[in-house]
Amino acid sequence: MSEQRKKVVLAYSGGLDTSVAIKWISEKYTMDVITVTIDLGAVKDLEAIRQKALKIGAKKAIVIDAKDTFVKYFVFPALQAGALYEGVYPLATALGRPLIAKLLADVADEEKADAVAHGCTGKGNDQVRLDVSLQVLNPNLQIIAPVREWRMTRDEEIRYAEEHNIPVEAKIKSPYSTDENLWGRSIECGVLEDPWVEPPEDVYKWTKSPGEISDEPEYVEIQFERGIPVAINGEEMDAVSLINTLNAWGGKHGIGRIDHLENRLVGIKSREIYEAPAAVILHTAHRALEGMVITKDALRFKDIVSSYYADLIYNGLWFSAFHQDLVAYILSSQRLIKGTIRVKLFNGTCTVVGRKSPLSLYSEKLATYQKEDSFDHNASLGFIKIYGLSLKTQSQKQMDVLAGREALRLDSIMPPKIKPVEISEPEEKR
Ligand code: ARG
Repeated sequence: MSEQRKKVVLAYSGGLDTSVAIKWISEKYTMDVITVTIDLGAVKDLEAIRQKALKIGAKKAIVIDAKDTFVKYFVFPALQAGALYEGVYPLATALGRPLIAKLLADVADEEKADAVAHGCTGKGNDQVRLDVSLQVLNPNLQIIAPVREWRMTRDEEIRYAEEHNIPVEAKIKSPYSTDENLWGRSIECGVLEDPWVEPPEDVYKWTKSPGEISDEPEYVEIQFERGIPVAINGEEMDAVSLINTLNAWGGKHGIGRIDHLENRLVGIKSREIYEAPAAVILHTAHRALEGMVITKDALRFKDIVSSYYADLIYNGLWFSAFHQDLVAYILSSQRLIKGTIRVKLFNGTCTVVGRKSPLSLYSEKLATYQKEDSFDHNASLGFIKIYGLSLKTQSQKQMDVLAGREALRLDSIMPPKIKPVEISEPEEKR
C-alpha cells in the first residue's frame, strides 16, 4: 500500500498566484491541498472562490468569515493604541497577517495537516509576518511559499495557468498589486514604483477623486467608550457595520488617501498607496478625544507607545510578550477615553470641529479670556521666575557657546588607517 499523501493548508484568495499554487504544490510537493479563504472584509463571492479552488484541484475548500474577530482583536486594539506606521499608515495589511496565520494554524490542526502555504513573495513584509507568526503558533508545521520558491515571471505564471486549465481572469492585467480588508486597501507596483509620479486615478477604488467630490460638507459624530467607537450620530452600531459606514462616508468625500514611501522590514524603501477612509476618520477622532481627557505627560508617553506598537505590528511581532506588555498600558490608558467627537468631512479632509467628554480636563473657566476667568494671573510671575531660572543661569555662564563664538567642530567617526607593525626577519635566517 502506498504511503498516505501529506496535507497542506493553503491561504487562498482566488487570485492568480494562489490558484497556480494549488496545482504547483500538489505537483512539486505531491501533497493534498486544502484551501482556506479568509474574509477580512473585502472578499466578494466566497462561494465562487471555493468552487474555483475545487475545480483547480483542491481536495477541500474552506471559507472563514473572520471580519468580527479581525475588528475586535486586531483593528480596535490598534486604534486604541494610535498605531500608525511612520505616523501615517493605519496598518490594514499588517494587522490581517497574524490573524491569517492563526486561522491557518487552526485549520492545519483540525485537518491534521503537515504544512501550511501562502502566496507571499520573497521581497515583502507579509512573508515575514506570516512565517514568524506560524513559527510561534505551531513550530512543527512546514511552511511552503510557492511564489517565493518558483521564481516564475508573471508571463510564465500565466502560461503555467493556461497549460493547467487554471482560469486566468482579464483583471490580472491590472498593473498594480493590491491587498484589501475592511481597515484599508494597499496598492503598489506599476507606475507607482517611480516616487516622482503622482498616483493615477485608477489606483483608487474606495475614495472619490477631488473633482467628483460634492461641495456639501458632512458632519459625523463618533461616540467612544474606552477608546472604542460604539455609535455614529447617536446610532449604536456593531463594529463591522460602523467601519463599513465610515468607509462609505469617508470615501464619498475623498478621505483616506495616503501616499507613503515607507521603510520595509527587509531593508528597502518602497512606495505604497493606501485608501483607508474609516481608519483615518477614527484615528483623527480618537486622538482628538485623547487630547481632551489625558494629561500632557500621559499624551507624550502615549505617542512613544503608539510608535512602538505600530512598529511591532508592521514588523510581524504580534504574538510576543512585548506586545502583551504594551497592551496592558494601552488598555489602562483607554479607561478614560469616553466621549464624542464631531468631525467635518469635506473635500478630502477630515477635520475635528467639536469634542465633548464627561471626563474632559478642559475647563472653560480656566481657559477663557472673558470675565468668568478663574486662572490666577499673579501666580504666573513666581512660576516664570523659578521655571526660567536654569536658562537664566545658563545665559550668564555659556553665552559664548550658545552664540556660536566658540566654533563647533565635529569629530570624525572614521578611525584613521593604522600602519601594520613591520616585522624584520631574524639575522641567522638570511
Ligand atoms: N506595505 C504594506 C505593508 O507592508 C502593504 C503590503 C501589501 N501590499 C500590496 N499591495 N500587496 O503592510
